[in-house]
Amino acid sequence: MADLKLTDVGKTYGGSVEVLKNINLDIKTGELIVFVGPSGCGKSTLLRMIAGLEKITAGTLEIDGQRMNDVPPSQRGIAMVFQSYALYPHMTVRDNMSFALKIAKKSPQEIDAAITKAARILQLEPYLDRLPKALSGGQRQRVAIGRSIVRDPKVYLFDEPLSNLDAALRVATRIEIAQLKEQMPDSTMIYVTHDQVEAMTLASRIVVLANKGVAQVGSPLELYERPNSEFVAQFIGSPSMNLLPGEITGTGQRTTVALEGGGTALSDVPTNAADMGLKVNVGVRPEDMVEAADAYVFEGTVNITEALGEVTLLYFEAQADAHPVIAKLPGIHKELRRKTVRLTADPAKVHIFNEGVSLLYR
Ligand SMILES: Nc1ncnc2c1ncn2[C@@H]1O[C@H](COP(=O)(O)OP(=O)(O)O)[C@@H](O)[C@H]1O
Ligand SMILES: [Mg+2]
Repeated sequence: MADLKLTDVGKTYGGSVEVLKNINLDIKTGELIVFVGPSGCGKSTLLRMIAGLEKITAGTLEIDGQRMNDVPPSQRGIAMVFQSYALYPHMTVRDNMSFALKIAKKSPQEIDAAITKAARILQLEPYLDRLPKALSGGQRQRVAIGRSIVRDPKVYLFDEPLSNLDAALRVATRIEIAQLKEQMPDSTMIYVTHDQVEAMTLASRIVVLANKGVAQVGSPLELYERPNSEFVAQFIGSPSMNLLPGEITGTGQRTTVALEGGGTALSDVPTNAADMGLKVNVGVRPEDMVEAADAYVFEGTVNITEALGEVTLLYFEAQADAHPVIAKLPGIHKELRRKTVRLTADPAKVHIFNEGVSLLYR
């Protein structure tokens, strides 16, 4: 059981390279927090600072109300699982898992009990006497997780634990981690990934990191339905949310935006009279685009179709270096290639951004 509190935490490497600043987070016992963000945004750095593997150069980290900045990693009650799971190759699964406990001079009975419990949770019972080389990648990663479980930490930290696994195994192991979390409701977990499907499926709350700080914190669906910025809107969801430039021409509970492409968007994002004429980007997710009879948000010629089976992605023709508008329609629609298609969207699903910031969050 552990609450974590980060207050104005920052990191500067070598005295001059600032990679993180003013990180404020309150993490409660039992949460599974996922850090996402583009490569190099400081996810691993933040995790390593929590673990004590990297010095915190600004602010404070508290675990259960106690300042941890200068507490050595071994005394923080934390276990970390990395992307490369580095098991001892000459030791059996059992010995790999019990190694840290032997070093800590636990009794054979305690070690046995801890291994039995971890092996049961991770379904590793049949493999306890095998060497790592006789295990699949997913099983090895489970042993690595087992090594942390036996230590009964207060906080589990995972740094992209699945990124070395192939696609099918990633999905299977992702589900195992979700089940593992369910079996340990009082453990606090922080999980780093750049894979937004992992973030959406595992997290109780997602922390989106960007530009050295926290872009938004919220439940997966909060971030999906109410992103606070174009950055978060485009980072969560795949393919990314479409952004269509325009100008506000009607305000009130329902807002009207005249789009540069000729269409008109209606949105349930409220605006006031002073917003008339405001330059905005309208945001519509590909899966929220529907074929329109007459009034439309977007009209374009389909350049490429990708039929994925349950849905078809339509990529529309775009100006030279502009990002193409993408629509995701249910079913198979190869016949739409080269056709002109009109699309509209439910006003409840139309976002509005001004200078990158959602009008919902002013
Ligand atoms: N030991 C280091 N010294 C200097 N810069 C570092 C060091 N470790 C990481 N960085 C830099 O800090 C930034 C964040 O890195 P990292 O936390 O690994 O990002 P992420 O895990 O989000 O991909 C990167 O720009 C990286 O180059
Ligand atoms: Mg990293």
